[in-house]
Amino acid sequence: MKTIVANWKMNVGVRESVALARGTLLTLRGRRISPEVVICPPFIALSEVHKVVARSAVFLGAQNLFWEDHGAYTGEISGRMLTELGVSHVIVGHSERREYLGETDEMVRNKVAHALANQMNVILCVGETVSERKAGVQRERVRTQLVRVLAGVRLKSHDRLMIAYEPVWAIGTGEIPEVAEILAMNVYIRSILSEVLPEMNANKIRVLYGGSVEGNNTYPFLREQTIDGLLVGGASVKLNQLKEIIDAASEVLDAQIA
Ligand code: 13P
Repeated sequence: MKTIVANWKMNVGVRESVALARGTLLTLRGRRISPEVVICPPFIALSEVHKVVARSAVFLGAQNLFWEDHGAYTGEISGRMLTELGVSHVIVGHSERREYLGETDEMVRNKVAHALANQMNVILCVGETVSERKAGVQRERVRTQLVRVLAGVRLKSHDRLMIAYEPVWAIGTGEIPEVAEILAMNVYIRSILSEVLPEMNANKIRVLYGGSVEGNNTYPFLREQTIDGLLVGGASVKLNQLKEIIDAASEVLDAQIA
């Protein structure tokens, strides 16, 4: 299976989100085989988008959550509240939140634990900055993030967790790593996962790639068996781009069953 996660970030309001959700459903219609698609609108659009995708194959995701069920946490939203809105997935630890909101690995860890406790599916983002890449410490960075966030976390099924490898320098820049680099990082990520989640089969935990994915550069990623999908930002709010990405994923899946 391949998973396409559309992270709409703070780019669309309610009306645009609903239109994009409807467009996504149309894009998926009539296919012999489709990737799993998760759309992550801003919080304010979740309720309306849920009405569009309820009873469809498209999953609804949130871009963030807080780690307590309820209480005096002004401006925050819990996993319990999100599930009430029909949200099944949540992106946690995105580098933009780490950078602009000061999210630490400890906070990310609390969020992952809370999401799992609320039976949500977690898309955990990891990745190095440009200076870490220049210093050649990308593996160490990713390792630290995974160990700090996941060590001791209780995971009941490999389906509940996806890792999105998103090098920070590749986000929104048009720069992408070589496919071979992503493959090597995925192997490394899986080795860390088997260390920190010894009860899980790390090969079954999906590892996605994210960063400057567009319709025309998607296929080389998706045709690799160990790249389980993509986390898409800017291109995912352009329906023609999203369609191209879903087309490429369907093509790969078709070829696998042919
Ligand atoms: P872009 O696809 O715009 O580079 O963003 C990637 C991302 O941050 C998805 O979460």
